[in-house]
Amino acid sequence: MFGRKDKIEIKTPAQIDLMRKAGIVVGTVLERMKVEAGIGVSTNDLDRIAREELTRFGADSSFLGYYGYPSVICASTNDEVVHGIPNDRKLVDGDLLSIDFGAIVDGWHGDAAITIEIGTPIAAQTQLSNVTRESMWAGLAQAVVGNRLTDISHAVEKTIRMAGEYGILEEYVGHGIGTKMHMDPAVPNFGSPGRGVELQAGMALAIEPMVTLGERHVHTLADNWTVVTDDGSRASHWENTVAITEEGPWVLTALDGGAEYFATHGIPSPAAAKG
Ligand code: MF3
Ligand code: CO
Repeated sequence: MFGRKDKIEIKTPAQIDLMRKAGIVVGTVLERMKVEAGIGVSTNDLDRIAREELTRFGADSSFLGYYGYPSVICASTNDEVVHGIPNDRKLVDGDLLSIDFGAIVDGWHGDAAITIEIGTPIAAQTQLSNVTRESMWAGLAQAVVGNRLTDISHAVEKTIRMAGEYGILEEYVGHGIGTKMHMDPAVPNFGSPGRGVELQAGMALAIEPMVTLGERHVHTLADNWTVVTDDGSRASHWENTVAITEEGPWVLTALDGGAEYFATHGIPSPAAAKG
């Protein structure tokens, strides 16, 4: 389940710099999605904007055509957790929307996701999204040379469990990333620390907790993509791509490289401080 070290793609510093270019595209487009998403806008509108941005950057989509996937974003609303296909329904006040986006630059992938509240915030949804985002950052902070893979998993789970009663998906996990979007190792969002491969410089991981306001159980709709909660509870998904470097974690899909989060949490990362 956790992959083998000899199967994990190790990038040179120059290759990580190329992945940073893909990460900047992903981070910039998701910032634009935050601005554009709102009441009366459809997720197909957002998908069109994301396609324009890819063209503007001269980048390719990681998602379009992936096992036949028809769009460049995943747009998952309310009880949809991940892999929602964009559609023409106009978003309404109170919707909880997760947008997942991936881009390829010079053959290197970046992958990230955000959750957005549409219109007036609803306290329980705000908390769900905040907890999910915080758990992602706790995981990213463990992407350090010499740590073991499940130190990340454990940090994600602990952050969520300490915040209250939430469901953590188990069937869907984070992943290695580089010349392909999905590579070894799998990165679960739960489990005891100190297991799995030892993290080394040049590895890159997508860390992506998927958390619900109810139970963790999910199923896939007849479109063969959309993953929804069994109990109808609402869900949040946050994701970033991180490079493990000798100078600490470098969050490739965050526009500031993770600098602000690591600085305010006392986590040394000269890599992130470069921006
Ligand atoms: N980006 C998703 C992930 O985080 C996968 C998207 S599936 C696709 O792993 F089909 F849309 F590409
Ligand atoms: Co991913």
